[in-house]
Order: sequence, then C-alpha cells, then structure tokens
Amino acid sequence: MNSPALILLLIFLFFQRTAANSVEEITWTYSGSVGQSEWSEYFPDCGGASQSPVDVTTTQTKYDPSLVPVTPLGYSQHGNQPFSLHNNGHTVVIELPGWMGLQGLPWLFTAVQLHLHWGNGSPGHGGSEHTIDGRSADAELHVVHYNSELYPNMSAAMTQRDGLAVLGIFIETGEETNPAFNNIINYMSRIRHADQKEFIPAFDVQSLLPRSLGRYYRYNGSLTTPPCYQSVIWTVFQERVQISKAQLLKMETILYSSKAEDSHRMLLQDNYRVTQSLNHRVVLASFSAESGKELSSGEVTAIVIGVMCGCVGLAVIVRFIVKTIRSSSSWDVLHNNRPAPSPRVNDQEHSKEKKQDLALSTTSEAEKKEEPSPSSPAEP
Ligand SMILES: *[C@@H]1O[C@H](CO)[C@@H](O)[C@H](O)[C@H]1NC(C)=O
Ligand SMILES: *[C@@H]1O[C@H](CO)[C@@H](O)[C@H](O)[C@H]1NC(C)=O
Repeated sequence: MNSPALILLLIFLFFQRTAANSVEEITWTYSGSVGQSEWSEYFPDCGGASQSPVDVTTTQTKYDPSLVPVTPLGYSQHGNQPFSLHNNGHTVVIELPGWMGLQGLPWLFTAVQLHLHWGNGSPGHGGSEHTIDGRSADAELHVVHYNSELYPNMSAAMTQRDGLAVLGIFIETGEETNPAFNNIINYMSRIRHADQKEFIPAFDVQSLLPRSLGRYYRYNGSLTTPPCYQSVIWTVFQERVQISKAQLLKMETILYSSKAEDSHRMLLQDNYRVTQSLNHRVVLASFSAESGKELSSGEVTAIVIGVMCGCVGLAVIVRFIVKTIRSSSSWDVLHNNRPAPSPRVNDQEHSKEKKQDLALSTTSEAEKKEEPSPSSPAEP
C-alpha cells in the first residue's frame, strides 16, 4: 500500500470515529469496540461508584431483620391481552402490564418489563450477572419496576436514586423442564433477529419466580446496561429456579444481536456484564446465615404431631402387652389358647370360598347361555 492511500485511510478512520461519537444512539455491545470496558466513555454513569452487577460475598453480607418478604402484585392476573416479546439486540424483553407491581419496599413499584441474561451454550460457563462468592449461575432473570409512588413513569424514575426496583433471579439447570420458562423460550424462534417483536400468549409471571421470596440480598446499584443509571434498589433472591439443559441451550443459541437485513449474523450470547466493585457498599441479607437451619412453624407443627402420635402408639402397645401378660399367667397358656379360635375362622372361610366357587360356576354357565345380552344395553 502506498503512502497517499494510507493517509487517506487514516483520515477516513479518524472521521468515522468522530462521527460515531457524535451519534446520539450509540450501539453498545458486550464485547468489541463499544464493549463493556468502553461503556463509560460513552455513558459516564457506567463508570460510577454504585454499579451493578456485584459479587455477593456471603460472609460479608449484613443481616437486616427489617427486610420483609417482597410481594409481587397481580403477577398471576395476566388477563387476556397478549404479552409482547422483543429482541432488542441485547436480550429478549417482555413488556409487563401496569397493574403488575411490587410490595414490601418502602414505596409501591409498578412492573415495566422482564428480560434475561445468559452465556454462550458451552456447559459450565455461567451467564448470570450477579455472582455469589465468586460463582456465576447459568443465567439470570430480571423483573424491572419503577417507583410509581414518587414518579409518573419509567423514564422519569430511571434516573432517580430510588426510582427502580429490580428482582434478580438466578437460573440453574437440572434434569426437569420448567414449563413456566417455555412461555418465553418456545417463542424466541419468532424473534431471532434484533428489532423483531411478536405477541405471545399471556402467562403467570409469578411462576417464573422462586417459591421463597423472603430470603434475598438487597443493595443499591444500577442498570446493568448503558446508560447504567444508579437508580436501582436490587433484590437478588437466594433460592434459584431451575430449567432443563435443553431449555438453557435453546435460550443461549437462538437469538441474533444482528438485524434481519444485516449480511453478517452475530449470535446474541454472553449478554452479561462483569461484576462491579462494591466501593464500600454493604449488601444486606433478609436472613441470617443460621436461619436456614431454623425450623419454620409448619415444620415445628409436624414434629409436635409426629411425637404425639408416637407417644400414643407406644402407650397403646405397652397397654396391650401389660393386658396380655395380666390375662394369662404364663406364655404356655397363651400358646394353648391361640389355636382354638383359628380353625373356626378357617372353616368359615373355606365354606365361603366353596359357596363362591359354586356361585361362580353357575353364573358362568348362565353367562355362556346369554352371551350377547351385556353388550346390547350399551346401545342408546
Ligand atoms: C414521564 O413523565 C414526565 C414528567 O411528568 C413527562 O415529562 C414525560 O413526558 C413522561 N414520559 C412519558 C413517556 O410518558
Ligand atoms: C440505599 O440508599 C438509601 C439512600 O438513598 C439508604 O437509605 C438505604 O439504606 C440504602 N440501601 C441499602 C441496602 O444500602
């Protein structure tokens, strides 16, 4: 390549870069030229001190007994209106109806959307955003809400420090298929390319959540994607939900981050941000480390009933033994007494059987004679 051509190329590259910087909507990615280590150049909040996700070091969490269970509102009342499923080039998003919400935080929050983060289809490669003691889960579900007590809508709330509440749910793989997640995964083939949108049947959103909503980690953080606003009250549940390996693989290999018209197809994979520094933030826990070994009221009731039944049973057995010992002077007498009533029972049974045999033989003969009769009443 001669030098004038090289200079032209350099000038071209310089102008291309400045042009990209001036564009309002910057196309960010997880890796590459506007990958996560570059986000803060374009979105200053991404370089802030209260970013998400974080690693939760369980020994450094602080138990806060005032953290009550979060209560989803209307998650199961999905109604008849379909949900919209959208590939936004970064993840799959379901918009949630405004009557769904969240209670158990200092304000009432209204549901906005849910989306997922995952890996790249290789086994043992976690795709969750938050980690626990340095370990990733296979994937992570986020349900996003805005503070509808203080702000009129999502766009007004998302820049405020108490504007959003996001539920984080760790997803693990096991043998069993999770039918709740098929409400999403089964339709992802219809939105393979970025910007594609489809309507899907509404479903019970609560069925995507773990059973125990009382055990969680709480901290103040941010959106995990640009513009990374530090406006999120995070609730990351301790209990995980399980999907099958096939469900995870489908989720991780079906979508493209490229648009349908793009000639170069790019799989939408590893759409998780690496964990960010806590910077002196404390992660609160709604449960203490030992509370897992404590018994619930239901378990206590079960144990009390079990012990009572055992005692009654033992008393009955003891009473029976004492009675039998008292009623007979020795075990020999007991032996002599036993055979007497048994033959009578046997005799009775034998005679009964004989009678039944007789009855059977007579009825079978009768049946042989009138074989067509049982089928005829079946006709209307
Ligand atoms: C959100 O609320 C703000 C403040 O009231 C308003 O200016 C804005 O238009 C609203 N945005 C939407 C999308 O409704
Ligand atoms: C989050 O920040 C608020 C102040 O805006 C503070 O009152 C609250 O305790 C913080 N929550 C946690 C979990 O640190």
